Amino acid sequence: MSESLVGNWNYPTAIRFGPGRIRELPDGCRALGFKRPLLVTDPGLARLPMISDGLLSLRKAGLEVALFSDVRSNPVASNVESGVRALRAGSHDGVIAWGGGSGIDTAKAIAFMAGQTRPMWDFEDIGDWWTRADPAAILPTIAVPTTAGTGSETGRAAVITNEETHTKKVIFHPRMMPAIVIADPELTVALPPMLTAGTGMDAFIHCLEAYCAPGYHPYAEGIAVEGMRLVKENLVRAVKDGRDIEARSHMLAASQMGSTAFQKGLGAIHSLSHPVGATLDTHHGLTNAVAMPYVLQFNRDAIDDKIQRLARWLGLGDATFDGFMEWSLALRHEIGIPHTLAELGVKDSQLDALAEMAAVDPTAGGNPVKAGVPEMRRMYGAALAGRL
Ligand SMILES: NC(=O)c1ccc[n+]([C@@H]2O[C@H](COP(=O)([O-])OP(=O)(O)OC[C@H]3O[C@@H](n4cnc5c(N)ncnc54)[C@H](O)[C@@H]3O)[C@@H](O)[C@H]2O)c1
Ligand SMILES: [Fe+2]
Repeated sequence: MSESLVGNWNYPTAIRFGPGRIRELPDGCRALGFKRPLLVTDPGLARLPMISDGLLSLRKAGLEVALFSDVRSNPVASNVESGVRALRAGSHDGVIAWGGGSGIDTAKAIAFMAGQTRPMWDFEDIGDWWTRADPAAILPTIAVPTTAGTGSETGRAAVITNEETHTKKVIFHPRMMPAIVIADPELTVALPPMLTAGTGMDAFIHCLEAYCAPGYHPYAEGIAVEGMRLVKENLVRAVKDGRDIEARSHMLAASQMGSTAFQKGLGAIHSLSHPVGATLDTHHGLTNAVAMPYVLQFNRDAIDDKIQRLARWLGLGDATFDGFMEWSLALRHEIGIPHTLAELGVKDSQLDALAEMAAVDPTAGGNPVKAGVPEMRRMYGAALAGRL
């Protein structure tokens, strides 16, 4: 392993990046003054040696750590509520958010809700609703990512499904940003190829939608284009050989770059994906990857110039919109992403209801072309049939 793939970064938070750095978890806890942390993860990960090893190393360091793993993929409010109960019952003083997006989002929401008196939905990412929260009551978090996709470890939001309305809600507070991230690519090695593909496409699409979202944010755009280049050079490698630590490292960096960039905005790929995920419990990144080309096509006139610039940065032979589309379809195909929403189980009879939800998804406002219910319905129709 080249030493150059190890680093300590302070943007957008303190990131200890590199293989083997999970060893620094007890030190991270000490740095934040944790004595009784609650380790939050999902039940699949809780069965893997990385969690038992992690608990052991924390206990050896004198920390009174407890484990909470009642976390669904596409986590729901009751996961957060039972986590808050466990947090209070154990008088925990900090949270270790260990997992993919589901584990980390749930952990961040638990740490955030620890001392709030209002219900969680009052802190949805709408206007300045976050100012309703008592910032002093938010517990600090150390994040340990195990997927390279959502970038939740370097983000200020948690995505939680409201089961009553079947909608994915974004809970936001600037203080939800983890205080320390331990980004160890070795922890992503066991991620199966299909999840590597889906999560990797989520990272790519965060960068792509942030780059295309309207508004002046040159920082975000710079981060986004380099994030996409890292995915282009490394995602296929990581899918084909999960033990390729160099590819896993670059994918982990790219996923954090995606979430750093998307403070500029996301777009209709996420708007189409969220209702499908909330209704059919499909994997988030995979669903995005299916929706991507249909949204690109819909946005074409508004993003043509930008996509040409991006295609040059990516070093595509045909640096045009069509060249980019062709390359992205080939990437999708090579890593086994289905071409249509029908293959994810979506039915024609569901499209009207899904389109209503997509049009009010908070990400819809970031799409470069205005998309209301009829436009979302049209894109869903195209994605169901595979019509480009
Ligand atoms: N906070 C954000 O900004 C943000 C952004 C995008 C998506 N999300 C949300 O994140 C969630 C999806 O997260 P995800 O794509 O990381 O998947 P995930 O966290 O749901 O994990 C998927 C599966 O992979 C398993 N897994 C995770 N890491 C593994 C590893 N290293 N080895 C073996 N198995 C492993 C898990 O146990 C789980 O079964 C969705 O709820 C989505 O809405 C959040
Ligand atoms: Fe996403």
